[in-house]
Amino acid sequence: MTYSRIAGIGSYLPKNVVSNKDLEKTMDTSDEWIRERTGIKRRHIAADDEYTSTIGLEAARRAMQDAGVGPEDIDLIIVGTCTPDKVFPSTACIVQRQLGVNGGGAMDVNAACSGFIYGLDIANRFIKTGGAKTALVIGAETLSRITNWEDRGTAVLFGDGAGCVVLQASEEPGILATHIHANGEYEELLHVRSGISVAYDKTQAGEAFIEMNGNAVFKRAVATFDNIARETLADLDGELGDIDWFVPHQANMRIIKAAAKKLGMPMERVIATVDEHANTSGASIPLALDQAIREGRIKRGDTLMFAAFGAGFTWGSAMLKY
Ligand code: UT7
Repeated sequence: MTYSRIAGIGSYLPKNVVSNKDLEKTMDTSDEWIRERTGIKRRHIAADDEYTSTIGLEAARRAMQDAGVGPEDIDLIIVGTCTPDKVFPSTACIVQRQLGVNGGGAMDVNAACSGFIYGLDIANRFIKTGGAKTALVIGAETLSRITNWEDRGTAVLFGDGAGCVVLQASEEPGILATHIHANGEYEELLHVRSGISVAYDKTQAGEAFIEMNGNAVFKRAVATFDNIARETLADLDGELGDIDWFVPHQANMRIIKAAAKKLGMPMERVIATVDEHANTSGASIPLALDQAIREGRIKRGDTLMFAAFGAGFTWGSAMLKY
């Protein structure tokens, strides 16, 4: 049986760090409120000349080096992002060119905060069916570009960053199960009001900023993390005890703790980096994973559970042997 396995991982965070204290100077908020309500202490913000493609590219280079693969090996590039460089070409095509990769498919997947899990699911299916041998799955975001810095209810929550895994065909178990879902009914609870098609009439166009009903999204996120993790375990006839590490999307420390509690996962087995990265949407899981691996917490052979939830609503999970 052919599995797809994580052969390498890399991530990149912009150099510019903005602390809660920095935000206190420009909006009516406090370090105390942000830490208590979200667990966030600081976030990285892209420089003017950094784009989703440039930070995604750096994460990809690091992941390829970690895996020991070159541009000639890559036959699929998927970028999970809701902040692409341009309408077209896709950010994946821009990254492909800069990496010097020729051939194979390259595409963006917009599933908001679930973008990396969606990308992983798609790449896994390509590899298992022989459609690709070595894929890059990148989660990269420049959310600062769609943040309304005058809305304290959202501006304190988001950050920029990128993470990438190299997925390779292998006889050794890697990805064991993936699930992705969506329910478009909740579009307006978390969205960017104007875009390309909707804003064609400039008299109707609002500004392109993240808008969110935080409370409603919070409740849905907690319930969904629990359901999705259980669905994946049931699919594998597995039990929670089989999971060494739970790596959830990093939106809010309170959501992560509530989800872990519902699942009965002790916080010692949960990876949380939201304090340092804030919510980086599609980039949050590979960023958290890379940090935990570099710190020596997650090791080869460990069983991991990823779970994400985001605008759409979209949600998804993956269980794998690292
Ligand atoms: O990535 C997936 C999608 N996103 C999420 O999962 C985020 C989900 N939601 C959340 O994380 C939380 O709902 C928030 C962190 C956004 C908000 O926390 P909350 O406990 O739900 O607070 P709230 O929105 O009910 O606001 C409580 C109070 C309000 O004041 P009043 O009406 O009680 O006087 C807000 O105006 O806190 C106020 N507030 C702030 N105060 C200081 C809202 N934002 C801020 C702020 N600083 N930045």
